[in-house]
Amino acid sequence: MSYQDLYKESIDNPQNFWKKQAQQLNWYTFPKKILKANDKGSFDWFLDGELNMSYLCIDKHVNEGYGNQVAIYYDSPVSGRKEQITYQKLLEEVSKLAGGLISLGLKKGDTAIIYMPMIPQAIYAMLACARIGVTHSVVFGGFAPHELAIRIDDCEPKLIITASNGIEIERIIPYKPFVDQAIELAKYKPEKVVVYDRKLGVTYTTNKRDFDYENLVKNAQATPPVKLNANHPLYILYTSGTTGTPKGIVRDTGGYATALKFSMKNVYAVNEGDVYWAASDVGWVVGHSYIVYGPLLNRNSTVLFEGKPIKTPDAGTFWRVIQDYAVNVMFTAPTAIRAIKKEDSEGELIKKYDLSSLKYQFLAGERCDVATLRWTEQKLKVPVIDHWWQTESGWPMLANMVGVEPLPVKPGSASFPVCGYDIKIINEQGKECKPKQEGYVLVKLPLPPGCLLDIWNNTERFKAGYLEKFPGYYFSGDGGYFDEDGYLYITGRVDDVINVAGHRLSTAEMEEIVASHPHIAECAVFGVHCDIKGQKPMGLAVLKSGISNDVQKLSEEVVQMVRNEIGAVASFKDVLVVNRLPKTRSGKILRKLLRNIADKTEYAIPSTIDDVAIIEEIKSIYISNNIGIHKNQLT
Ligand code: COA
Ligand code: AMP
Repeated sequence: MSYQDLYKESIDNPQNFWKKQAQQLNWYTFPKKILKANDKGSFDWFLDGELNMSYLCIDKHVNEGYGNQVAIYYDSPVSGRKEQITYQKLLEEVSKLAGGLISLGLKKGDTAIIYMPMIPQAIYAMLACARIGVTHSVVFGGFAPHELAIRIDDCEPKLIITASNGIEIERIIPYKPFVDQAIELAKYKPEKVVVYDRKLGVTYTTNKRDFDYENLVKNAQATPPVKLNANHPLYILYTSGTTGTPKGIVRDTGGYATALKFSMKNVYAVNEGDVYWAASDVGWVVGHSYIVYGPLLNRNSTVLFEGKPIKTPDAGTFWRVIQDYAVNVMFTAPTAIRAIKKEDSEGELIKKYDLSSLKYQFLAGERCDVATLRWTEQKLKVPVIDHWWQTESGWPMLANMVGVEPLPVKPGSASFPVCGYDIKIINEQGKECKPKQEGYVLVKLPLPPGCLLDIWNNTERFKAGYLEKFPGYYFSGDGGYFDEDGYLYITGRVDDVINVAGHRLSTAEMEEIVASHPHIAECAVFGVHCDIKGQKPMGLAVLKSGISNDVQKLSEEVVQMVRNEIGAVASFKDVLVVNRLPKTRSGKILRKLLRNIADKTEYAIPSTIDDVAIIEEIKSIYISNNIGIHKNQLT
């Protein structure tokens, strides 16, 4: 069937279409209610169906005779460890850990935080929670204790599962001490902490609430999966929004399982038994969907890589992993390719490895510039597929659905709407834009299965942020346009969310931290272009009157504050002191203008600006600080 026909079917008759896809899964009770409007203004899928994600990812395959197939290839250049975990071994590890969690008092309906590096125990922990109906919230290791504390207070976990430490190239990241600090900072106090000791010679203090992971598993009873309703929350994943407070995206079980299974075959062209590698982190949505749940649902061998595209040990490490595990399809962020390209521009390291297993290279997480796409195509000699999605959707919204019908790639475009997503480009007045006219990227409701159910503890924010801006549509927060051939081009966020090395961050959150420095009167934080990371945050600060600081010292203090509060992942390294900030006559800071001047993108001077002269002032500050002297590759 052609992409056009399949897509049309999914939009014309979503109930039939997704019922058919749901039949690809083994349910305890197949749903009678396929799609139902709910009182939040959105829709629920498969409400009365019953299933278990852990069963579908593990037991089903073992029962069908695939216990000896490798489920996880763990490869950790930073610790020098490698392990091949079969589906049988995965079953033992997960069912025993699930038993251990039950022995600690966890039960269906509880929440647990998982704060772990890229080790198999992180995957075991996710699947063990899913097995017993505990909603997990994985927190990315690059976030500092303060960010972890915010999440603890929001989702009130009964228990935290962590590891002694992580490794960033050569630096030890003290996960367990960070958990202790976070619990100290949080108002809500989780009762128990399970610690996996990586035995890397790093010591940590133990508290009364701590339990050793290995002991727990050794003494536990293997536990079967429990039946869960399709809309049982599998996980909460926090992401950055336009305010300083992250939002907990809530994911269901049945819709998500259906959508992921569909996507493995139809978007990624992956068959059961294939090797699939998403070089991301379990702390991000890509990790949830395409390191853990998607490939395991589809009985693939998934690669769990604890390293970086460069320096672990060199820019050939990705190609070594593809060769060693005969990876069929790989997924990474354009920033990783740019980092590799910078170190090995001629692709000499690629030639050292046999990449004949690779069929497709997928890219997402940020806009893919044409130069990066072309370089990857030329060097890997396979189709390179840019595709677009977000934490909220949980799976691709725009893609070249190569599993259905590979279509020509147009660099700069993430291609076409994926089945189930009725995407429209709408202008400020709510009218549909013509081809080549840029507008808001919206999805006509209902969203397909797998997308967010709600925001944890904040249905009002869910409705206001996503559903009420354009009634009848889901608001993605991105801008874009269709061309005459129906290819969609994402142009970037229309809000203050930025994307740094494929990591989504809130400038509002950074701004709150910078503004809390006792000598700073006001500030603006915004994203500027970065050749490797796509964007990086930059701050401009105005000092309080009467304060004349050592600017270097102040800037170091502010950078450290952001690092302490958000974490190293914020990559906040540039802050300049200015006399004033450009504002509208009503006092709103013109952040977009500040960004555009730095990026040397074309901009119109807003008619509402209170003083035009400030533009020249800002330009000269940028020039004297070497800001914005790059060539903007993204045009
Ligand atoms: N735990 C602790 N710290 C972490 C971390 C983790 N899991 N991940 C990143 N950090 C730290 C880094 O060590 C770095 O610290 P530093 O400022 O002290 O050097 C900081 O956070 C910023 O990290 P990052 O943005 O990753 O920059 P980098 O310079 O270390 O690496 C890339 C640059 C491009 C190689 C890297 O960002 C990368 O591999 N990106 C791919 C991103 C990706 O897969 N995104 C997922 C979406 S698909
Ligand atoms: P996250 O929720 O962290 O996955 O970030 C989602 C955001 O990243 C989207 O809203 C986009 O702004 C951006 N993004 C992801 N993939 C792409 C892509 N292929 N092209 C352009 N932007 C992308």
